[in-house]
Amino acid sequence: MKPIQVGLLGIGTVGSGTFNVLARNQDEIRRRAGRGIEISMVADLDTARAKSVVGDKVKVVGDAREVIANPEIDVVVELIGGYGIAKALVLEAIAAGKHVVTANKALLAVHGTEIFKAAAEKGVIVAYEAAVAGGIPIIKALREGLTANQIQWVAGIINGTTNFILSEMRDKGLDFSVVLKEAQRLGYAEADPTFDIEGVDAAHKATLMSSIAFGIPVQFDKAYVEGITKLAAADIKYAEQLGYRIKLLGITKRTDKGIELRVHPSLVPSKRLIANVEGAMNAVVVNGDAVGTTLYYGKGAGSEPTASAVIADLVDIARLHDADPAHRVPPLAFQSSSLAAAGGELPVLPMADVVTSYYLRIRVSDEAGVLAKITGLLANAGISIDAVLQREADEVGGEGSTQTDLIILTHDTREGDMDKALAEIQGLPTVLAPINRIRKEELN
Ligand code: HSE
Repeated sequence: MKPIQVGLLGIGTVGSGTFNVLARNQDEIRRRAGRGIEISMVADLDTARAKSVVGDKVKVVGDAREVIANPEIDVVVELIGGYGIAKALVLEAIAAGKHVVTANKALLAVHGTEIFKAAAEKGVIVAYEAAVAGGIPIIKALREGLTANQIQWVAGIINGTTNFILSEMRDKGLDFSVVLKEAQRLGYAEADPTFDIEGVDAAHKATLMSSIAFGIPVQFDKAYVEGITKLAAADIKYAEQLGYRIKLLGITKRTDKGIELRVHPSLVPSKRLIANVEGAMNAVVVNGDAVGTTLYYGKGAGSEPTASAVIADLVDIARLHDADPAHRVPPLAFQSSSLAAAGGELPVLPMADVVTSYYLRIRVSDEAGVLAKITGLLANAGISIDAVLQREADEVGGEGSTQTDLIILTHDTREGDMDKALAEIQGLPTVLAPINRIRKEELN
């Protein structure tokens, strides 16, 4: 059978990885796919760099629309990123009857509904394994391997940059801003790291996993997003003393009231495998009613790990593109006619209705009655305390200090109730600094 013809839009880190892995493993991939997969055209604004990667045998152009207009091309691989031109090109490729493979989580988390609808109308596939957790085949696992299950929850370390920063903060006892500068100097964090450190990248990925897990439309606008910029080395140290590590988790959970979809730093018991995922690695834990808890671990970014996911999608398309569209795996795992309506019986819950436990760090004057007053306010709000840790004032503020840190772990409570109690506690004259609140996830 004639090799399937692929056009790449963008040949940076992931594009060159895709080209190189396809070239290196082409025989094995052909044996698996049942036909060859050939990159025959590449578009990149930097045509000289593109030529240096693909050589003379592949046509290189500066205009992505030339790839889309080429009737020989079966599949367009979008590796440009972002919501701008990438969205227009993906929709144009679909309109031209091309299958699309993309690593663009931002695009799908925000515009996925429109893109999947356009693809269904045209009978083409939009595949996106590389968009979540890089080389880890988590889309495949959720969408196919675990299809028998009612998924209960998914929790993942799905941003390598922030996991690297948190690992360094823990190892070296340094504060966030110091480690971020070092990470940028070493090339682990981008010059503009906003999407990573503010949790936006993780929220894009969590949004996609939530849709696949629960059969709801992509709703990035309903995700709660909190990054790691406010974390202090002290929080990591205190968490450690209490038997926890702090990780930036993307969490989506089924509850009686609806779906939780949130990204924030979380205390995770140190004994959980996921708490021990260090550096830039990614890991995702999925809990299903039949299978129990499963864990997926690997590289969430990088040239060849991400290429591994892109090529897996190309192989799926090579195998499936002749199949009747009704018999293909639906893009969001559930048949589109069976997706719950946004805001319908499976709404994404507002953060105030999320139930979780908390770590609180409260800087107080070290005087009689302070702890009693604070625990009284928590009790009034119906919040039950799990553990309290109070450091020596000298240890916290230096010799002769009259300030100390109170660390309180709570049992599960509604976020809305916690917000109210914290506002009252913050108003006490003996509370001397903004309270640090970090959610705690037992993941059991
Ligand atoms: N910037 C992401 C990370 C990789 O740090 O994990 C691409 O999503």
